[in-house]
Amino acid sequence: MQVFHTVNGLREILRKHRNSGQKIGFVPTMGNLHDGHLALIKQAKQTNDIVVCSIFVNALQFGLNEDWDKYPRTYDSDCEKLDQEDCDYLFYPEDSEMYPNGLDTQSRVICPTMTDVLCGASRPGHFEGVTTVVSKLFNIVQPDEAIFGIKDYQQLAVIKRMTEDLCLPVKIISAPIHREADGLAMSSRNSYINEDERPKVKVLKQALELIAEQIKAGDLEFTQLEMEAKKRIESEGFKADYVTISNRKTLEPAAVDDREITILGAMYTASARLIDNISINLD
Ligand code: PAJ
Repeated sequence: MQVFHTVNGLREILRKHRNSGQKIGFVPTMGNLHDGHLALIKQAKQTNDIVVCSIFVNALQFGLNEDWDKYPRTYDSDCEKLDQEDCDYLFYPEDSEMYPNGLDTQSRVICPTMTDVLCGASRPGHFEGVTTVVSKLFNIVQPDEAIFGIKDYQQLAVIKRMTEDLCLPVKIISAPIHREADGLAMSSRNSYINEDERPKVKVLKQALELIAEQIKAGDLEFTQLEMEAKKRIESEGFKADYVTISNRKTLEPAAVDDREITILGAMYTASARLIDNISINLD
């Protein structure tokens, strides 16, 4: 695998591939790669001739009190893992390469409304940072396909919407949630979970699963179901951020006649914020 630190270096090599008619797949990440990330690379390999991964811990999407400084940075082992997956190119820019004019005056991409709810409500400015960096990365890599995990469901929905709204010539592909043996969705932030909490964090997935079963069994009292799920999370000692039964595409609260529903949840442990989601079809 070849590593590029500059926009120009990466563009030059990718231009050659594009000109010879090769299809380019792209997997943007913030590094500290786990099997969930690697599954995205595998998926990209299946439908593309060339696969590009990026690792960039994007300060623009972290709030002032969030974990940008302590976010796990594991460049050497990430490179080894990407090599094993036969990833072709890694883009690993410095902050000054991505934001040469500084963060404060950086032009931004905003996807309104959808980003005000769920994680966007608890993390103001987060999705503006995501849409801005992802559109920059799309412009740098100009991929045919970009692969995103369903684990970050709202992020995926926002990126799909941005791509549609701005007519970006990229196909957005979604990849299933990779989980630990007990059901916890894999995440770089799982390393923040302490030992006492670890056996109990599966409650988030279980609470969402119970809602899915209840809806399938005909219970459409969404507000009640959401409240009960939050209570269940709190009974294990965690702080529920939100549990929401949403319309899969718009992320607005689901209507009782919606057929495609996504149930999303987020909770705080002592030092981590965990998210998960489940989608159901009611036909
Ligand atoms: P990061 O959290 O590193 O995730 C990179 C990609 O891996 C995202 O598409 C995410 O949804 C996916 N992913 C993470 N955990 C997963 C799991 N358990 N199963 C399946 N896919 C998983 O998301 C970001 O980085 C950033 O916001 C980014 C899009 C790179 C913009 O900075």
